[in-house]
Amino acid sequence: MGRYLIKNGHLIDPANGIDGKMDILISGKEIFEVAADIDINSKNAKDADIIDASGKVIMPGFIDLHVHLREPGFEYKETVMTGAMAAAKGGVTTICPMPNTKPVIDTPAKVKDLLGRAKEAPVNILPVGAITIDQDGVDISDIAGMKEAGAAAVSEDGKSVMNTWLFRKALHEAAEAGMPVFSHCEDISLADGGVMNYGAKSEELGLPGIINAAEDVIVARDILLAKEAGCRLHLCHCSTADSVLLVEMAKKQGLLVTAEVCPHHFTMSDDEITEDDGRFKMNPPLRSRADVNALRAGLRDGIMDIISTDHAPHGTEEKAQSMLKAPFGIVGLETSFALGYTVLVKGGYLTLPQLVTKMSVNPAKVIGIDKGNLAPGKIADLVIAGIDTEYRIDSSKFASKGRNTPFNGMKVYGRIEKTFTGGEIVYDYNK
Ligand code: DOR
Ligand code: ZN
Ligand code: ZN
Repeated sequence: MGRYLIKNGHLIDPANGIDGKMDILISGKEIFEVAADIDINSKNAKDADIIDASGKVIMPGFIDLHVHLREPGFEYKETVMTGAMAAAKGGVTTICPMPNTKPVIDTPAKVKDLLGRAKEAPVNILPVGAITIDQDGVDISDIAGMKEAGAAAVSEDGKSVMNTWLFRKALHEAAEAGMPVFSHCEDISLADGGVMNYGAKSEELGLPGIINAAEDVIVARDILLAKEAGCRLHLCHCSTADSVLLVEMAKKQGLLVTAEVCPHHFTMSDDEITEDDGRFKMNPPLRSRADVNALRAGLRDGIMDIISTDHAPHGTEEKAQSMLKAPFGIVGLETSFALGYTVLVKGGYLTLPQLVTKMSVNPAKVIGIDKGNLAPGKIADLVIAGIDTEYRIDSSKFASKGRNTPFNGMKVYGRIEKTFTGGEIVYDYNK
């Protein structure tokens, strides 16, 4: 196993209160030493590869609780390997793939099969199991068994468990098993076949809209049920101003509730949709400017704790259609840090340590893993980035099979230079 001495970088390690110039020595899988100046001739560093990180920041690897890998079943959209390579390129060293594959990941055996497929991947993969068998909303899956098999959480992502009685029962079983529930909040009857946000823009384009309440009523329902069950609840892809208010209420009550915001929802509003183009279609949809501002404020005020992508790759032809026909979803793994840094840090909503907390420290806490921390003895999952580097997002260079992003061509700051997983370099911009 290799040794690396990263010199002259600016270390941002919020878990240990570090925001300053520090050298890091990696030995094997672990961080060996963190100090202001590690001598390259010292006993432990002398045969290490030296990496000069002058002008760069070093952060714990990002942890994305919400990605879609599409394997098994939809390998033309993404495989475990291509999705993991996209993660490495985005500085993301741990990903939680959602279970809406074919077949659905709904048994301990299927969790183990996915973990087997993930063995050679360049990042850590912690599967999310389905709440109900085949995500049919009829029979609750073996939540305790899937936890035993290595699943990090359960989720019905792609939809909500609309039967409230059944969902309550699942929350109780999850609480019993100590398993977090990741909730996609969407009342399917209120969504009413909409393909974008309901508002002036959907009227202008003549497309069916999705009202905010389709999300809000389920956010409220799930918070109340999680309170009753004593279950850890993580709210996926919150997109509305009222979701932020409801999460604030839950936090005031001290509930085990966390909430994620996706980069697209804090970056772009529906008035920026220029035409009926499938690349602007995701679920929940891009909302109004007022919602975008509420999400940014919620992140700033510590109400919204997590940034995850809902990385949802699809085939180019599928997404080239009208929003009426294209599938929901955009890719996100290779643009999340740059969008977070450009919009939230440069935009004055978060400090860089706060952004790192929402992309690494807090997600680790939700699923209870010992990551998001670069102290000596911890696993060396980390990322080196150039935050002053300005460039244009170029989807043709993505490692993901998915090219479906509304951000192609956007000017951003923050380039991932190197990603380490378990002490190994799994992505290098210069190679
Ligand atoms: O945009 C989305 N895409 N939202 C979802 O909830 C599902 C996802 C997918 O699987 O494509
Ligand atoms: Zn979802
Ligand atoms: Zn999703």
